Parts: sequence; structure tokens; C-alpha cells
Amino acid sequence: MATATQTFLNKETSTNHPVPPQPKPWPDRMVRYSGIAWFLAAAIGQWIFVFYVVLQYIPELVQFGLPGLANTTLPDGYIAGDMAGNLAIAAHVLIAIIIIGSGPLQFIPHIRNRFPRFHRYVGRVYIVMASITSIAGLYIVWTRGVPGGLVGHLAISLDAVLILAFGGLAINFATKRQIDRHRRWAMRLFMVVSAVWFFRIGLMFWFITTGGIGINPETFEGPFLTFMYFGQMAIPLLILEAYFLAQRSKNNALKSSVAVVLILATGAILVGTFAATMGMWFPRLI
Ligand code: HEM
Repeated sequence: MATATQTFLNKETSTNHPVPPQPKPWPDRMVRYSGIAWFLAAAIGQWIFVFYVVLQYIPELVQFGLPGLANTTLPDGYIAGDMAGNLAIAAHVLIAIIIIGSGPLQFIPHIRNRFPRFHRYVGRVYIVMASITSIAGLYIVWTRGVPGGLVGHLAISLDAVLILAFGGLAINFATKRQIDRHRRWAMRLFMVVSAVWFFRIGLMFWFITTGGIGINPETFEGPFLTFMYFGQMAIPLLILEAYFLAQRSKNNALKSSVAVVLILATGAILVGTFAATMGMWFPRLI
């Protein structure tokens, strides 16, 4: 009888008073919240960039067609007689609006969980468009050239290769339903697609904090630019890998250190975005 009562009481205890979910320990929360802060700063900065691209290119293209590219600030934006090159540039900037505008939406859990079909649709469009615009970018770089010399050419071409490779891997793991691996490759893809934006805010961060040490404004070359040509991909990818490591690790010191790095990176993004908006994008529009 005693055993039956005990069993009954145990059952009561376990069904009527389920153990409440335990809050995550503070190092995990630090990683989570600093990751969210980083993401929000990046999303705001990217949407300001999109806003600039829309206002810089759409009115010219709508009003004058491809020759309108000559009125923009792009070096060699329009070359008479080079139809393929002009089309590649127009496609490149128009697609940029779609991918930079939609990329951050993919990481918002609310949208992903409540509208999974939207997530899948935007994801496919994002990867296809990022691949097309990278191929168009490669064509422009190697036919028209860009400031920055051979190092600049090679670095941005590497970015194109990484975009194609990471996009392929993200799709591959999504179709195999290996969701964790898909998530990781999609986040890496987002970082390399965002490299051109990181480059601009990194450059303006450097200008505002050092006055532009290591940059030759005539040739757009110099030690800092060589560092940034590759850093535009390497730095965000390293920060992302540190974030993944902190999520997996049980080491609180490591988690806290990564959270501090994320907070510092968030500050740098905010300063760089402010400097790029006020010093580069806004003046081009007025
Ligand atoms: C997929 C991510 C990319 C996005 C979102 C993107 C976006 C843009 C935007 C918005 C511009 C106009 C810049 C401005 O007005 O300041 C631009 C220019 C340009 N992009 Fe990209 N781009 C991407 C990747 C690439 C890649 C991979 C290449 C080359 C392989 C490339 C080559 C170029 C070139 C040559 C220009 C014009 C010249 C210049 O910036 O100096 N882009 N891109």
C-alpha cells in the first residue's frame, strides 16, 4: 500500500509540477545577446547601403537606361559600345539590392519558423542571385578592371569563388535535410556575400579612426588596403567561426571572450556604418 501511495505521489509530482525550463547560464546568454547585437548592427548597416544603391542607380537606369550609368560614381560605369559590360554592371547593382536587402531576413528566427516556405523561397533566390552577380562581377573585374591593382583583382575574385562554393554547400545540405550544416554554410555565405559591404565600412572605420594610414588615395593601394582586400572576407568568417565555437564549447572563459569580441565588432560596425553613410553614401546622393 505504501509503495502504491508512493508511486501515486511520484506521478502527481511529476505530472502536476513539471520541472520549469532552466534559464541558460550567463556565459551562454552573453554569447547569444552579443550575437544578436552584432546581427542587428549589420542588418541596419546593410539596409542603409541598399537604400544608397537604390537611390544612386535606379533613377539613372529608369530615366536614361544603360547610359545613365555614366552619371553614377562608378569608375567606368558606362562604356559606349560595350553592351555586355554595361549590362553586367546594371545587373550587378540591381541584384545587389535584392540580395543585400533580403539576406538579413533569413536569420530572423521568427520569420524562419512562422513562414518556412518564404524562407526556402528567399534562400533559393538569394543563392542563385548571389551566384549570378558574382559571375557578372568577375566579368567586370577582368574586362574593365577596378582600382586596387592585381591584389584587389585577385581578392575580389576569391570572394566570387567563395560565394559560388558556399552557396552550393548551403543548398546541398538543405536538400539533404542536414539543417545544422546548412545553417552554418548559409551563415558563411552571408559573410562572403557581405564582404563588399564589410570592405566599405571597414575602410571608412579606418579613415575616421586613423585618417587613412597605409592607403595611397591615388592608386587605391597600400598595406592597409592589401590587408582589407582579404580581411573583408577573412575577418567576418573568423568572427563567425569563433561564435560557432563559443556555442559548442563548455568553457566559460572562451564564451565570455567571444562575447567581448562580438561586442567590440558591433561597435566597429556602428562606427564604420556611420562613417560610410556620412562620408561616402550620403554625399554621393546630394
Ligand atoms: C555578391 C555580393 C556582392 C554585392 C552585394 C555587390 C554589390 C556591389 C555594389 C552595390 C556595387 C556598386 C558600388 C557603389 O556604388 O559603391 C558594386 C560594384 C562593383 N562590384 Fe560588386 N558586389 C558583390 C560581389 C562582387 C564580386 C564577387 C565582384 C567581382 C568578382 C564584384 C565586382 C564589382 C565591381 C567590379 C564593381 C564596380 C567597380 C568598383 O566597385 O570599384 N562584386 N558591387
